[in-house]
Amino acid sequence: MSLDYQHISVLGKEIIEYLKPQPNQNFVDCTLGGGGHTEKILQRTGPQGKVLAFERDQRAIEAASRRLKKYQNRLIIINQNYVHLEEEIIRHRQEIAEISGIILDLGLSSDQLDQAGRGFSFKDQGHLDMRFDPNSQKVTASDIVLTWPEDKLVKIFREYGEIRQAKKIAQGIVAWQKAPTVEKQKSNILQTSVFVSTILRILNIKPDNLKRYRIHPATQIFQSLRIAVNDELNNLKQVLPQALEVLAYRGRLAVISFHSLEDRIVKDYFKAIAKTCVCPPAAPICTCHHQAEINIINKKPLRPTAEEISVNPRSRSALLRVAEKIKHPSIP
Ligand SMILES: C[S@@+](CC[C@H](N)C(=O)[O-])C[C@H]1O[C@@H](n2cnc3c(N)ncnc32)[C@H](O)[C@@H]1O
Repeated sequence: MSLDYQHISVLGKEIIEYLKPQPNQNFVDCTLGGGGHTEKILQRTGPQGKVLAFERDQRAIEAASRRLKKYQNRLIIINQNYVHLEEEIIRHRQEIAEISGIILDLGLSSDQLDQAGRGFSFKDQGHLDMRFDPNSQKVTASDIVLTWPEDKLVKIFREYGEIRQAKKIAQGIVAWQKAPTVEKQKSNILQTSVFVSTILRILNIKPDNLKRYRIHPATQIFQSLRIAVNDELNNLKQVLPQALEVLAYRGRLAVISFHSLEDRIVKDYFKAIAKTCVCPPAAPICTCHHQAEINIINKKPLRPTAEEISVNPRSRSALLRVAEKIKHPSIP
């Protein structure tokens, strides 16, 4: 792996325990990152098993390709959004016939968070950018805060950040957009530190008083901007049914999420397609003959052990849900 790419895979042991990769089985990694999970899978699926991996971030692809060089004959990396899962599987049908497991390790890598120039962290001095793939994505976080109207800002702060003061912050940002110094910046990309100071001013918080806050007041705002820039929740909603569609019978889908918004989408989706009956609640007996599409493997999400959290504190919010397909696939 590239010396300067930093990311420790989360719940690696549990992913292997639940996906159970065996010799010659094929897997899909929707979020390759530095290739940590894929490496564990490739170690166990030789001599013929393949991994098809999606990744939007070119820097991660370079790091993972270097790390996984010795498996290059069994690894197909696609520099695409994982929402193209089904079409890519159809395109690679000759190489990957049956898929035994799929992993989604959502959100961003430590490497992305720590690269100041990417603008993911409010602690850095970089540009407020936040695109996973700057080559194909046009809208940056800077574009959003410099140009979006109040109603759109309120919506993302509420829906993606669950921020109670969403309206106050959005109003403050829109007033700030009209300031002559900000007007001049609109063709440029905004500095993260300038935006953080603006947020603190809107919330009437003096930088000296920040120590009083358990989490930085900009945390949820940054989360909502990142989700909006990368359309993360819609991507997740789109990929889940595709993942179930392309999996082999008894194949498993493992999803690691890092906040309740993502986890709720996974939980609700699993619950809906695990139903064995869809008769109206008042029906005296079941007449629907509905069949569940999946078995939910773990009713409660799995969390990292205290030991993992002590080695990798960023794993602390991870939640893993696993489902097993029990419906036969329809792709020819
Ligand atoms: C948490 S990291 C994955 C780390 C990886 N599992 C490992 O062990 O190294 C998430 C990665 O998913 C990528 N990503 C996020 N959304 C994506 C999407 N819609 N399509 C493809 N890649 C995506 C990010 O660029 C990031 O590198």
